[in-house]
Amino acid sequence: MHTCTHGWLQDPYLRIKLYPPPPSAKTDNDNDTTSNDADDSSTDEFAPFKLDEPLSSMFVGEVVSTGSDVQGFSPGDRVNGVAPWAAFAALQGNSLQKIPSDLPPSAYLNVLGLIGLSTYFPLVEIGQPKEGETVFISGAAGAVGSLVGQLCKAFGCTVIGSTGSDNKVEVLKELGFDHAFNYKRKTVGEALEEWAEGGVDVYWDNVGGETLDTLLTKMKRNGRIVACGSISQYHVLGTERAYGVKNYFKVVAGCLKWQGFLATDYVERAGELFAKLGKLMEDGKVRSLRDECFHNHMYM
Ligand SMILES: NC(=O)c1ccc[n+]([C@@H]2O[C@H](COP(=O)([O-])OP(=O)(O)OC[C@H]3O[C@@H](n4cnc5c(N)ncnc54)[C@H](OP(=O)(O)O)[C@@H]3O)[C@@H](O)[C@H]2O)c1
Repeated sequence: MHTCTHGWLQDPYLRIKLYPPPPSAKTDNDNDTTSNDADDSSTDEFAPFKLDEPLSSMFVGEVVSTGSDVQGFSPGDRVNGVAPWAAFAALQGNSLQKIPSDLPPSAYLNVLGLIGLSTYFPLVEIGQPKEGETVFISGAAGAVGSLVGQLCKAFGCTVIGSTGSDNKVEVLKELGFDHAFNYKRKTVGEALEEWAEGGVDVYWDNVGGETLDTLLTKMKRNGRIVACGSISQYHVLGTERAYGVKNYFKVVAGCLKWQGFLATDYVERAGELFAKLGKLMEDGKVRSLRDECFHNHMYM
């Protein structure tokens, strides 16, 4: 099947694919024969890009033509999936999903696409935020963080977000975050002392590293940590320069749940996502920051 491309998602995890596979993690025991097969770089999704081949990522596009053996797709259908960064591509039908054509294609890369899948189901099912609880979000002004924060406000939580500039702090406040701060001016520890004296119920982790370590010390008993990403570490994963988390015993001591996820696990539930998030968007409870940039800079 041939498709033309309307736009690609440039997710931070693509950084991981720009580096050679990390060496096996070192242990104190040189004779340790434990396999490192479970390392994230060993899965296709995180495997390095191949030299002389185009980069690829999630895209939205349109079917231009189909072979006689392709069932269920017709020219003009709107589709998403993974495609090379090229104006036109030849793709297997079974790697693509049809998407409705009633919203701009950009929506299906963002709130109703990978970003929505990376947010709605893991937040509700792993984070389980409840009315009156305190939620902390790192990388809060990014596509994922800004949506998580708005959802938590819709669920009646107190929401605190960290970001890297004063302008983004203002954007987070406009989105309804109760507290937002520039981590280059105030430490995460200071912010938590000020706004979460009683502790944090849900931590949405986009950055890993030292921020995660600090949050481990501030979680309430039975708190939940949603491991979404580790953007501060993508350039050093699996190397000695990677940040070593020191407070992991707090998971035991605080009876914490600390769980990761991959958005692709939820692809089958795209219809459910369209219904649930579409309604919140219609009701004005959620808006998409990325759409605004998308139309200005990216949309073809
Ligand atoms: N598990 C999954 O399936 C899944 C799916 C999608 C995304 N993710 C992950 O979710 C996270 C957020 O993604 P996104 O799409 O929201 O990203 P995004 O919109 O591209 O935003 C990324 C933001 O992260 C911050 N950042 C960059 N480098 C950093 C560093 N070294 N330390 C701390 N913050 C840094 C920057 O904001 P500041 O200026 O505020 O620092 C940057 O604007 C990423 O880790 C991504 O890989 C996971």
